[in-house]
Amino acid sequence: MAHATETLRSVVLGVGSYLPQRCLSNADLEKMVDTTDEWILKRTGIRQRYIAAEGEMTSMLATKAAEDALKAANISAQDIDLIIVATATPDYTFPSTATQVQAALGITHGVAFDVAAVCSGFVFGVATADKFLTSGSHKRALVIGAETFSRILDWNDRTTCVLFGDGAGAMVLEARKSEGSVADRGVLTTHLRSDGRHREKLYVDGGPSTTGKAGHLRMMGKEVFRHAVGMVTDVMTDAFAATGTTAADLDWFVPHQANERIIDASADKLGIDMAKIVKTVSLHGNTSAASIPLALATAVKDGRIKPGQLVMIEAMGGGFTWGSALIRW
Ligand code: ACO
Repeated sequence: MAHATETLRSVVLGVGSYLPQRCLSNADLEKMVDTTDEWILKRTGIRQRYIAAEGEMTSMLATKAAEDALKAANISAQDIDLIIVATATPDYTFPSTATQVQAALGITHGVAFDVAAVCSGFVFGVATADKFLTSGSHKRALVIGAETFSRILDWNDRTTCVLFGDGAGAMVLEARKSEGSVADRGVLTTHLRSDGRHREKLYVDGGPSTTGKAGHLRMMGKEVFRHAVGMVTDVMTDAFAATGTTAADLDWFVPHQANERIIDASADKLGIDMAKIVKTVSLHGNTSAASIPLALATAVKDGRIKPGQLVMIEAMGGGFTWGSALIRW
């Protein structure tokens, strides 16, 4: 007989990642715009980023990351009945990138759709998948963050083009019965927020309904920075309150990888031990929705993140949107 408090929880079965072949260093950028390795490193912590090849689309990066995650989870694509792709750089205005990934993986059942929350997209995707899985409507989800931001950068604008890169990361989640305690594996809590009044601080100056073109990324960097730390620490505080945990209980803090200074200031504000931060921003740059699953895959593959550990993910991005998810790995 089922335990009276038995409930469903979304358990991580595996994570995966994919980076395009071409690596662009700060030294390479020095030849393209009026910038220096020293400026980029000091202000952001970024040393290099990867750039998709001509004809290499977001869905292709996403599919490779998904295959890597399925391998890590030791399940077949046919076991997946929900695909969520978080991206701000879809292959086409429609159909969704998720349906292209679904087809590439040879899946014809279940449902696939995109979520648009820019850099917060992966956290929004995990939260959405969690609602589907814990409601009992779906059994196994692929949540993917995939971007080709190189296609929406103004390569003449040194204030933005040095910050971003391309890539993809993916996570497989499975609905499993749980006693519902904080010690049980799975997504413990998710907290999402948005405030559309901040549109002009971080946006793309085009789209199907405005210019008919994809447009270029525009950002008021100082303004984004000013809001970021407060917003992400708010939703992490919500996660601790909802679960009765504290920063000291965390094994790993895996933030959105936009800027090392934002990451360090957020950890410092909540008293998170700096040794518990997973940082990949120096290697990948800001890959928007791909940054968290890329960082998770890095830390799982190198043996840092292990089953049973408590992992906090968080992000903030265009909209503004922001959110957190606390996961018992
Ligand atoms: N190389 C050299 N100099 C530069 C560059 C560059 N690439 N870019 C700007 N500068 C110059 C500026 O022109 C300015 O010169 P001035 O003083 O002569 O006017 C000077 O450097 C300082 O510029 P600021 O914009 O004031 O530099 P700041 O210290 O604010 O750093 C940065 C800029 C790195 C963008 C910072 O504001 C930041 O990280 N903001 C957050 C951005 C972010 O994280 N966005 C992503 C989050 S959301 C998402 O992920 C989509």
